[in-house]
Amino acid sequence: MDSADHAKELAAQKALEFVSDGMIVGLGSGTTSTHFIKLLGARVQQGLKIRGIASSNNSEQLAKSLSIPIIDFHQTSTIDVTIDGADEIAPGLALIKGGGGALLREKIVASASKKFVVVADSSKIVAHLGKFPLPIEVIPMAAPLVAAKLSALGIHPAVRHHPEGTEYITDEGNLILDCACGQILDPQSLAASVRAIVGVVEHGLFLNMADLAIVSSEREIQLLHK
Ligand code: A5P
Repeated sequence: MDSADHAKELAAQKALEFVSDGMIVGLGSGTTSTHFIKLLGARVQQGLKIRGIASSNNSEQLAKSLSIPIIDFHQTSTIDVTIDGADEIAPGLALIKGGGGALLREKIVASASKKFVVVADSSKIVAHLGKFPLPIEVIPMAAPLVAAKLSALGIHPAVRHHPEGTEYITDEGNLILDCACGQILDPQSLAASVRAIVGVVEHGLFLNMADLAIVSSEREIQLLHK
């Protein structure tokens, strides 16, 4: 395990403190969330009684393999706490998410959560969002149209591909446009402009959603509040 991965595991470990018996827990996606799900699975095997709602097929499969009971929004409309990673964390806990391609289900899960806790290593902290390309999930048929409209906003979209060259398809059957934005000075305004484009399903700006971020380095764990 390299030092960034160890820091992610430390943050995930700390996040367990926000989970208790009887809770419905939103399960994030990505490498930090994978640490959390594995640690949570170990607690469940020791007797912790929780139920999970997963934000991706991968996280659902992992949780099930660890005997974490998984439910969906037919069984509940609220989640007690969601633990998920982030690609960038700016002041006010403004986030970019979606580097792992699960931003749509992640935002749905976060939106239903009483408490949304971000877990990350300290490399994710930024002064301004935008160095990480903003992932935008789009309906495949609309992708060229959406890309042209994003370009007109001054941002530069690229269809996400797997390393072997095929297009990346989300759990909901859509494409991801990774958008080079440069420094995002007004995330609310950008979110509104992107949301207004027909064919955009969701974007990776998570604004006013996170309650707390657990940010770890090898040496220390910081709790950041909004
Ligand atoms: C998944 O779609 C993302 O939103 C992840 O939460 C984000 O990319 C952070 O991933 P890591 O925990 O792998 O850094």
